[in-house]
Amino acid sequence: MKPQTFFAVCPRGLEPVLADELQRVGAAGIHAESGGVGFTGTLKAGYAANLHSRIASRVLWQVGRRGYRNEQHLYDATQEVRWQDLMTPQQTLRVDVTAVRSPLASLEFAMLRIKDGIVDRMRDVAGDRPSIDRAQPDVRVFAFLDETTVTLYVDLSGEPLFKRGWRAEKGEAPLKENMAAGLLALAGWTPEVPLLDPFCGSGTIVIEAATIASGRAPGLNRRFAFERLKGFDSHAWRTLKDAARAGVRDDARAVLRGSDISTRIVEQAVENARLAGLEGWLADGRLAFAACDARQVEPPADHGMIVSNPPYGEQSAPRSATVPRMMADVGDRLKQAFAGWDAWLLTSDRDLPRQMRLQETRKPVLYNGPLECRFFRFALVKGGYRPRAGAAG
Ligand SMILES: C[S@@+](CC[C@H](N)C(=O)[O-])C[C@H]1O[C@@H](n2cnc3c(N)ncnc32)[C@H](O)[C@@H]1O
Repeated sequence: MKPQTFFAVCPRGLEPVLADELQRVGAAGIHAESGGVGFTGTLKAGYAANLHSRIASRVLWQVGRRGYRNEQHLYDATQEVRWQDLMTPQQTLRVDVTAVRSPLASLEFAMLRIKDGIVDRMRDVAGDRPSIDRAQPDVRVFAFLDETTVTLYVDLSGEPLFKRGWRAEKGEAPLKENMAAGLLALAGWTPEVPLLDPFCGSGTIVIEAATIASGRAPGLNRRFAFERLKGFDSHAWRTLKDAARAGVRDDARAVLRGSDISTRIVEQAVENARLAGLEGWLADGRLAFAACDARQVEPPADHGMIVSNPPYGEQSAPRSATVPRMMADVGDRLKQAFAGWDAWLLTSDRDLPRQMRLQETRKPVLYNGPLECRFFRFALVKGGYRPRAGAAG
């Protein structure tokens, strides 16, 4: 197979950890850009990225690229691609356009010209045209326009990659699975380190951690858009999946704990863990959830890592004044009971360290959807606790 060019999309802020991850699954020519990571490899490397990447939202396969100044040039760009090798006229198509600093006035019109170009080309060379289906297309084309260049991609993923195929219960403001994986990677968590999420909600972070510890490839239980493309190499795909299945280590040791103040949400987290195939991990207590107020949470080991996204103002309407007060108490609890632990908290509230009376040692910027967040790291040192004036205990 000859080398191809791909682009793996991810939430902004996770590009460096996605680049590391792609390196580990055998991608070459890796370069991080804003919002994703480009790489090269055989088509099998594109399949492997879909199967193994925990951090990417989707993987795109570059099929065309050229300079443009007007809509006609976009049409011309589509004529240079061998669409007939990628799809049949009986399949359905969807085209999406994103642009940064494009000189064109209408992206809707740009999209229509690209769509026209593809269907005209298919009619010319394959005798018929694919029809358009925006809801459930067989083939999805993404066009990216910058100031001077149009790049055409075919989507290899289909449903976004953060859909691992297990989530039933969402809880309140759940993190996307790829965001959870990105947090764990940024924090430098590895399976030997005891992990606690004291605001676990539907359990996304600890469930993701358990699937990492068990060596389960995130894409083992789902389908991908590349399986519908013409020329799909089912043999290469089966080989990749067989190797991934052989890599599952269900006897790995780990201490993984999630707790939340809501009993109902904790039940959902347990159900989600079961659906993710972690029944055995729940049964022997390597993975456990409990209903508990973060202000009273107990450390499950004498060292470890907290990775969590506590509630923040923007997510509750009306904006809650009780959250900063609660986080002040949580800060005290961490200083009292978690000396020797590292705590990493994702929040859009830049005031969190002051509220918790903790000094962050790092604060990378991440985007949780449209929300600009900081991922604060606090090193909890022994003897760091001094009662606040007027605070009990
Ligand atoms: C932003 S959500 C966490 C979402 C979670 N990461 C997920 O993926 O589902 C915050 C959670 O904090 C919980 N919470 C609020 N106050 C709490 C407290 N004092 N102690 C423990 N949990 C609390 C809420 O019930 C909610 O599930």
